[in-house]
Amino acid sequence: MPAACVIGLQWGDEAKGKLVDLLAPEHDCVVRYQGGANAGHTVVSGDQVYKLHHVPSGILHPSVMNLITPGVVIEPSTLLKELTGLEARGVNPRKNLQISERAHLVMPWHLLEDQLLNGLVVQGENIGTTLRGIGPCYRDKVGRTFAVRMTDLLQDDLPARLGTIVAAKQTMLAGMGGKELADQLSSDKVIELAAGWAEQLGPLVGDTTNYLLDQLDAGKRLLMEGAQGSLLDIDHGTYPFVTSSNASGVGISGGSGVPAKWIKRVIGVTKAYSTRVGGGPFPTELTCETGQKIREIGREYGTTTGRPRRCGWFDAVAVRYTARLSGVDAISLMMMDVLGHFEKLHVCVAYDIDGQRVDRFPCSASALRRAKPIYETMEGWKADVTGARHLGELPSQALRYIERISQLIGVPVKIVSVGPDRRQTIFADKDKLLSLVD
Ligand code: IMP
Repeated sequence: MPAACVIGLQWGDEAKGKLVDLLAPEHDCVVRYQGGANAGHTVVSGDQVYKLHHVPSGILHPSVMNLITPGVVIEPSTLLKELTGLEARGVNPRKNLQISERAHLVMPWHLLEDQLLNGLVVQGENIGTTLRGIGPCYRDKVGRTFAVRMTDLLQDDLPARLGTIVAAKQTMLAGMGGKELADQLSSDKVIELAAGWAEQLGPLVGDTTNYLLDQLDAGKRLLMEGAQGSLLDIDHGTYPFVTSSNASGVGISGGSGVPAKWIKRVIGVTKAYSTRVGGGPFPTELTCETGQKIREIGREYGTTTGRPRRCGWFDAVAVRYTARLSGVDAISLMMMDVLGHFEKLHVCVAYDIDGQRVDRFPCSASALRRAKPIYETMEGWKADVTGARHLGELPSQALRYIERISQLIGVPVKIVSVGPDRRQTIFADKDKLLSLVD
C-alpha cells in the first residue's frame, strides 16, 4: 500500500498543512522531505492553531509516525522550540517523530550569510528570502566541504570540524563585506550549542530511509508532505526567485528516499486565487484595493515571517504547468470562502508577452515580468460558503468556478476548502480518492 503526496502548485502557502493533518489518520506515516524552517504549515484543531515549521503536519495524531527525511534542512534551535511549544500544549511529539541522520543542519553562519546576501539585487529584484539560512545551507550541502549533518552531531570529531568551519566562514563573511557578522561567530559558542542539540535531538535521530522502505514492504501507507510550492522549485520554478530545494512533485523521491514506483496518488493544492511572498514576477498580482481586500479577508500574512503576502487572481497558466510537472491527479482548491466577497472574478487563461498570446509558462523571469494576463471574467457568488459541507450546498456560480478551474488545469477538483477548520472541507468522494492509493 504505497504513497500519496500533497504538493503546493503555486508559490507556497496553499494551506497544505490543513490537508495533511486531515488525511494523516488514513496513513501510517507523514513525511516532510524538503525545505526547512522557511515553511510555516498551519493546522487548526478545534480552537487550537498550531504553526509548524519542521515538524510534519501529522504530529497531532499519536498513531501516525512523522518523519523528517534527508532532503530537509533543519535549524535545530527552531526545531527544539517547536517541540517544546507542542509539549506545552499537551502534544507529545517525541513519541511519534523521527529525524533522518542524513538531514543537513542550518548552522549559525547560514543565517548570517542569508542576511548578508539577501540585501543584494538579483536580476533587478531582491529575492526576499525568509532569512532562515535555507539557500546558504543547501549551497554548503551541495558544496560538501562545510556541511554539517544530523549524524555529525553524534560524532566525537565534531568540535574539531566545527572549529575549522567557523574559521573558514569568518574569513568568507569578512571577505564578502560582513566583518561585523563574522565577528558574531565564535567556535566555542557553536561547539557548546551543538553539544546541546546532540543531547536534546539525538534520541530522535535515526535511519528514516530504511524505516520508510521497511514500511512500504510491510504494506503501510505513507503521506508525503511537500513544503513551499512548485513555482518555488529550484529547477523548475521562477528562478532565481525560488527556494533552494525541489518544491514540486519532482522532489519527492530525492528528498525522502522513497522510489518513484511507490508514488500512486498526487494531490495538488492551490488557492482559488494566487499569493506570493518575497520578490519575483507575479503576472496576476493586484496592487489595487482588490488585492488588499483578498489579503485582509484571506488573512494573507506569512506564517513564518509575518510579511504581507502579495495577492492576485487565479493563474491557470501557472497551475496547469505545475500540475503537469508534479504529476497531479486530483486538485484540492483552497480558500473558496474568500472569493465569496467579490462581484466578479477573473481567471488568467493565457499571457500576452510582447504582443504574442502565450499558453505555456515561460522559463525566464524577465519574460514573466512582461507577461500581461489575459483574463476570463466569471460571476462571483457573493455568499458566505463557510458552512457548506457538500458540493451541492455551494452556489451555482461557485460550482461553475470550480468546474472551469478543473477544465483549465486539466485535472479534476476533488477537494474544496471553505475555511481553516478540519470540518470546512468538502470531499468529492473521499473513499475513492484515497482508495486509488492502493
Ligand atoms: P528562502 O526559501 O527562505 O530562501 O526564500 C526564497 C523565496 O521563497 C522567498 O521569496 C520566500 O518568500 C519564498 N518562500 C520560502 N519558503 C516559503 C514558504 O513556505 N511559503 C511561501 N514562500 C516561501
